[in-house]
Amino acid sequence: MEFTACRIHLIRIIRYLCELINNAKVMDQKINKPGHFFALFVLLAVMTGISSCEKFTYTPPAVDPNATWLLSTDIQPIFTASCVSCHGGAVAPDLREGKSFQALTKGGYLDLPAESSELYSTMTGSSHTARSTAAEKLKVLYWITQGAENN
Ligand code: HEC
Repeated sequence: MEFTACRIHLIRIIRYLCELINNAKVMDQKINKPGHFFALFVLLAVMTGISSCEKFTYTPPAVDPNATWLLSTDIQPIFTASCVSCHGGAVAPDLREGKSFQALTKGGYLDLPAESSELYSTMTGSSHTARSTAAEKLKVLYWITQGAENN
């Protein structure tokens, strides 16, 4: 994110400098000392570039632990998008819509404390960590902390 934003601006700066060099050549024929203006423009361009890099720094959206996290609209969509391709009945737990709640509670995947529950620890473990984002893992964690209701 950050890198891409900076690169775009660096390209703009380089383009800007090329135009300046062209202008400076034209100016050279008219005025005797374009060097000072040129140096000032270079400095301004570099400073603009640096400040725009900071402006584009990416901050991931925070997952609020105090919000109410719902199985139906927050958790099940994660299962449906990233898990049911494998956990579609053959591999336990069955995470398909309408099946996931029973499979997770009966299988003891949601036991507190939430951090060490089978569901959360599998999602953060090495075999599964790449299958969901950090924000998705937190949503699951907070849903379990809040009692893992069929809500
Ligand atoms: C590419 C296939 C695949 C995907 C996608 C997948 N899993 Fe799994 N998962 C497995 C397999 C295979 C096992 C059983 C072996 C193991 O524990 O790794 C398993 C086991 C589990 C277990 C049980 C671990 C245990 O010790 O009993 C849980 C809980 C789980 N997965 C959750 C998830 C969740 C949540 C997602 C989606 C974010 C997910 N899985 C996505 C293949 C997958």
